[in-house]
Amino acid sequence: MKRLALSLLLGLMALEAFGAPPARTGITLPPEIREQFLMNMRDHLSAISEIQAALAKGRFHQAADIAKDRIGLGASSSEACRMSGMAMHKEASPNPLTDNRALSGFMPESMHKIGFGMHAAADQFAQDARKAAKTGDYRMAIASLSRVTTQCIACHARFKLNSR
Ligand code: HEC
Repeated sequence: MKRLALSLLLGLMALEAFGAPPARTGITLPPEIREQFLMNMRDHLSAISEIQAALAKGRFHQAADIAKDRIGLGASSSEACRMSGMAMHKEASPNPLTDNRALSGFMPESMHKIGFGMHAAADQFAQDARKAAKTGDYRMAIASLSRVTTQCIACHARFKLNSR
């Protein structure tokens, strides 16, 4: 019991010393774009899960296709991250529901960069998974996939959506 109290106290002191995690930057999106953005996010998560399931069955090419088509730089969800915010804002689509470009102008440059990094990492994973199809090197493929999810985490740690 004493030990528990002590470790709780030490834990609290550590929190004091290092402070709370840095506040996340809030992004404000118009409702339709916000909906589209979160829909893309949920699809990213499904895609990661489907990739893991494919890898578990040794279907490396299927895993590669999912990464490339759903998260890679050629995927429609990556449109917003391909160019710098302001440039895209000017030519924002009149129909945000069918065009991810409209989102672009609302993202700060550093958010763009992480997003771009994630889409590029997904394409790299697709290549690595195709290599693994020949060599059977699961470890390499899974390590490559983790470089995609690292980008998800990096962005979530720094940004959030403001409440409507
Ligand atoms: C460029 C930034 C960025 C990247 C990269 C990113 N996300 Fe997100 N994601 C966000 C933000 C911002 C939110 C809103 C979080 C909040 O307000 O707390 C979000 C929310 C989500 C949600 C919640 C969706 C909902 O309906 O509420 C899921 C699931 C999600 N992300 C999955 C992922 C996955 C999986 C990846 C990587 C494959 C990923 N995200 C990559 C920025 C990003």
